[in-house]
Amino acid sequence: EQLGPDLHLRPLASDDFKRGHFDVLSVLTAAPQLTPKAYKDNFDELKACAGTYFIIVIVDTSSDKIVGSGSVILERKFLRAAGLVGHIEDIAVSKAVQGKKLGLRIINALEEIGRVRGCYKIILDCSDKNIPFYEKCGFKHKEFQMVRYM
Ligand code: ACO
Repeated sequence: EQLGPDLHLRPLASDDFKRGHFDVLSVLTAAPQLTPKAYKDNFDELKACAGTYFIIVIVDTSSDKIVGSGSVILERKFLRAAGLVGHIEDIAVSKAVQGKKLGLRIINALEEIGRVRGCYKIILDCSDKNIPFYEKCGFKHKEFQMVRYM
């Protein structure tokens, strides 16, 4: 999908490490570079889980650099007649282009994937400071996140 003259939204490619994928992810948390082989192996492993991992990126085609990224993971359940739940994860927009609605475009695209695939809901975890962003995207607060680090 063409978002603007120089902005293209598309699925992640197996060689996107060379377009600054890790630089974009580093706005989220530590995202050390993988070797090209490790990147490709991880890519292939996710791809082998058919219909489960959907990772999209926004590429600035003038510089051939990724400026935004996000994923939705589709979880198949037994309840809700073997229903599907979408989990939105790792939404990241480069600092230089934050506030230009790219985050919103990423969320809209991931939601559309969930809708087309038949999810009955889409959920995500976020920090307090990102609540206004997700509210603008149409999400509402429900329950709490729990974590136990391994
Ligand atoms: N506080 C208040 N409003 C906000 C905030 C905020 N922190 N962030 C965005 N908004 C609003 C915008 O003003 C805009 O509102 P408008 O339509 O009235 O103008 C609307 O939300 C959409 O904002 P975008 O321009 O699409 O936001 P952006 O492209 O900057 O992306 C994001 C937002 C993804 C949070 C980005 O700032 C970012 O990458 N931050 C660092 C990483 C991060 O925290 N990612 C989310 C982790 S949670 C998860 O991944 C499930």
